[in-house]
Amino acid sequence: MKHTAFAAISAIALTAAGVAVAEPQAEVLHWWTSGGEAKSVAVLQKEFADNGGTWTDMPVAGGGGDAAMTALRARVLSGNAPTAVQLKGPAIQEWYEEGVLADISSVAEAEGWADVLPEQIAEHMKCEGAWCAAPVNVHRVDWIWANKDVLEANGIEMPTTWDEFNAAAEKLQAAGIIPLAHGGQAWQDATVFETVVLGLGGPEFFQQALVDLDPEALTSDTMVAVFDQMRTLRGYVDDNFSGRDWNLATAMVMNGEAAFQIMGDWAKGEFLAAGKVPGEDFLCGSTPGEGFLYNVDSFAMFDVKGDDKKAGQDLLAELIVGPSFQEVFNLNKGSIPVRTDVALDKFDDCAHLSSEDMTASAEGGALLPSYAHGMALRGAQAGAITDVVTAHFNSDMSSADAVQMLADGVANSM
Ligand code: BGC
Repeated sequence: MKHTAFAAISAIALTAAGVAVAEPQAEVLHWWTSGGEAKSVAVLQKEFADNGGTWTDMPVAGGGGDAAMTALRARVLSGNAPTAVQLKGPAIQEWYEEGVLADISSVAEAEGWADVLPEQIAEHMKCEGAWCAAPVNVHRVDWIWANKDVLEANGIEMPTTWDEFNAAAEKLQAAGIIPLAHGGQAWQDATVFETVVLGLGGPEFFQQALVDLDPEALTSDTMVAVFDQMRTLRGYVDDNFSGRDWNLATAMVMNGEAAFQIMGDWAKGEFLAAGKVPGEDFLCGSTPGEGFLYNVDSFAMFDVKGDDKKAGQDLLAELIVGPSFQEVFNLNKGSIPVRTDVALDKFDDCAHLSSEDMTASAEGGALLPSYAHGMALRGAQAGAITDVVTAHFNSDMSSADAVQMLADGVANSM
């Protein structure tokens, strides 16, 4: 099958030195277990096998990856790190600082990653100047998904402001339809929250509040308004929302039980895996407001012993950023390719919208890292914010108390 330049060169070098060529091996830790996710990761497994690799799967269920990260910590602490791990954002640098990540610069350089990746995204993949992770995709977080028939039957257009969203939700509720499909898990609350921060505050406010952690922004009237809107949204979810997995919430929109879901475009992967067609069965729109919240999946290679494992890491890194994987994987996953040179001809309108908005947002300084998906902050700070968001969503805490708790929690996490 396809042997790329890098694999060929390293194989020749090894044979010339009289050493047997190592068979690439990889134990891969990831949290892609829903229908759409499993279909996507199967693409990587197949490419890896087609190129002579042996894949040992280590899936850890749990949307957003919290459970996977707990499993990773346990493995590293016991001195038995997996070969490759789905890891992203500042967590990559945090692990690098622990001295447990492999340097994959030789692959990155041989494959010319610097020429095909947007600079802002490439930066996330570097640790003290070395390449330490391979990017898979660009997921957009600030999306609303809707059941087309339900909207039409109730005379509702895709909302473009939060007021419109609220008005639509009231109308749907009166008609006996659950307005918002939501799963009450901390990371899902955080996902909705950050889209409201972006929508009501705008890109500059998002940067100040959730990237720079500016205490003034955290306690501002705008943040009070954000928590007010979260309280309003709480009124639009059904009674059984607690603990529900995100893909089950997506299924509620698919089957017309609910009208909307606010979720990143891995939800599109779910619709597609169920045979649903964008524009016909379901609609996508960015959440109200300007800007683009990006969530880039990536894999980091852990420092492991054995030529077979190292060969596996090199092969995986090379395939992940390779153009064919980038196209096929992202068609399934709901995201768009991270490479700038992959044509989007086979992609749907939602992906085109994502790509256009990403370019426009980058030009306007509104391309922002998702805090809820670990792209903006280190674990402790992100955790401090999510604790407050969840506590507020699941109680009758006032917005004024929430902003105070937010500022205090963030200050204590520094
Ligand atoms: C990941 C996606 C994944 C989603 C749900 C996000 O944090 O970036 O790849 O599909 O969580 O598990």
